[in-house]
Amino acid sequence: MLKLKDGSSIAKIGQGTWKMGENPNSRESEIKALKKGLELGMTLIDTAEMYGDGRTESLIGEAITEYPRQKLYLVSKVYPFHAGKGKIFDSCDASLKRLGTDYLDMYLLHWRGNIPLSETVACLEELVKRGKIRRWGVSNFDLSDMEELLTVQNGENCAINQVLYHLGSRGIEYDLLPWQQEKGIPVMAYCPLAQAGNLKCALKNSTGLEEIAQKHGATIYQVLLSFVLANENVVAIPKASKASHVKDNYEAVKIILDEQDIKRLNMEFPPPKRKVPLDIE
Ligand SMILES: NC(=O)c1ccc[n+]([C@@H]2O[C@H](COP(=O)([O-])OP(=O)(O)OC[C@H]3O[C@@H](n4cnc5c(N)ncnc54)[C@H](OP(=O)(O)O)[C@@H]3O)[C@@H](O)[C@H]2O)c1
Repeated sequence: MLKLKDGSSIAKIGQGTWKMGENPNSRESEIKALKKGLELGMTLIDTAEMYGDGRTESLIGEAITEYPRQKLYLVSKVYPFHAGKGKIFDSCDASLKRLGTDYLDMYLLHWRGNIPLSETVACLEELVKRGKIRRWGVSNFDLSDMEELLTVQNGENCAINQVLYHLGSRGIEYDLLPWQQEKGIPVMAYCPLAQAGNLKCALKNSTGLEEIAQKHGATIYQVLLSFVLANENVVAIPKASKASHVKDNYEAVKIILDEQDIKRLNMEFPPPKRKVPLDIE
């Protein structure tokens, strides 16, 4: 678990859901995978109104029906063009309805759009007041966006920034990650298994990564996850629509990379030495 600014806790690892719920033929196995995650204790589920035009949230709603709500940690995201006083309240209600719940644990602005941050933040604070969401955060915000956010009234209430982060895409280590650590705002790492982002092919063909995986009796995907999770200020949300993958991801939490492993990974996939623009999916 990791502490948020408001004193609450969030799990280090959750379940991503992008592209789930889109193909009716995969529905059964996707529900099985989500339930497997819940059974293992991976109760943080990340989704968005964008995913499958709401079908992903509906799939999650079906997977969680028999699970006690207070044990779940549901994160959803609002489209930037819905993140103003005209649409956000309906958007949030629609997400709640599809998920079959009456509150979200976290609501994120999916990426920055044209609606002023001050208006979005005021609406998110209103949603907290109405009890529709417990807290809010942002996604795909680079350092300058985060700095601007903190100048807006109540901007400091931002709980998390969800960004692309994996071994082959380490730009945030230069500035965003240390800045967020200093401000007490964790990073939620998306694409932690390098489904997208820089160097994704290089990762899958890396002998160094393969050897470290063998040393730990793990897969390279588990090593990728343990790399991201090694940072105390990072939460990861790998997506797995196969139950066996969910189990592997859960078990990756136990892998502790040693100094030698990190040295080797740093040689092959060096940390940034200068500012790198935020990688996005
Ligand atoms: N905020 C944003 O803009 C944004 C953007 C992208 C993603 N996200 C969120 O972050 C989540 C994760 O990112 P992502 O889905 O793009 O990529 P990811 O988690 O890096 O990778 C997902 C891929 O890895 C496979 N996989 C999962 N576990 C595995 C394992 N143990 N061994 C081998 N393969 C494994 C999955 O296969 P199977 O599905 O077949 O199991 C899937 O093809 C998303 O689902 C979404 O919730 C947010």
